[in-house]
Amino acid sequence: MIILRPATPEDLGLLLYWDEQPHVIASDPDDDWEWEKELDRSPDWREQLIAELDGRPIGVIQIIDPAREETHYWGDVPANLRAIDIWIGEASDLGKGYGTQMMQLALARCFAKPAVTAVLVDPLVSNTQAHRFYERLGFRQIERRQFGDDDCFVYQFRRTDWQPVV
Ligand SMILES: CC(C)(COP(=O)(O)OP(=O)(O)OC[C@H]1O[C@@H](n2cnc3c(N)ncnc32)[C@H](O)[C@@H]1OP(=O)(O)O)[C@@H](O)C(=O)NCCC(=O)NCCS
Repeated sequence: MIILRPATPEDLGLLLYWDEQPHVIASDPDDDWEWEKELDRSPDWREQLIAELDGRPIGVIQIIDPAREETHYWGDVPANLRAIDIWIGEASDLGKGYGTQMMQLALARCFAKPAVTAVLVDPLVSNTQAHRFYERLGFRQIERRQFGDDDCFVYQFRRTDWQPVV
């Protein structure tokens, strides 16, 4: 069974190790997550979550409120959205359906708040595997957008398309 739990400073070593894995670098080449600093704080516009499979950490989900996130990465966006980052740490855990389960848990967490209208993700244009992954889950591509040096597609999952898995 997969669960999501808050990341803690004790996850630092694992997060730094996962950041060095080639498939993680390829999906997000320029990002410095500054884990040493960020694991010590919990701003109310963000959740940093570790996915565990039967007690074994396998990946990361970050959920932010893009309108309130302090660097304004998403620019001028409406209230009541969420934006998600997701990755699996070990290459040997890819392609086994874990990411799908993690994202369904994350979407359920987002839409559990009645005000949340939609969830955004921003894969690199080059990350075609992630595009298939998001489309299969029910995300729809809404725009191509440059974030700094990163050429990305923005995908959206609207509440009206959300059917909780029972
Ligand atoms: C994107 C990511 C989170 C998807 O997670 P995942 O666990 O690999 O995804 P899934 O296993 O649920 O689905 C991916 C593939 O596995 C297949 N799959 C799904 N369930 C499966 C199962 N139970 N057994 C075997 N294969 C399965 C799917 O058909 C899919 O194949 P396809 O994309 O070639 O059609 C993961 O690939 C990842 O961490 N990538 C690197 C980081 C990244 O790109 N993050 C997104 C940045 S925006």
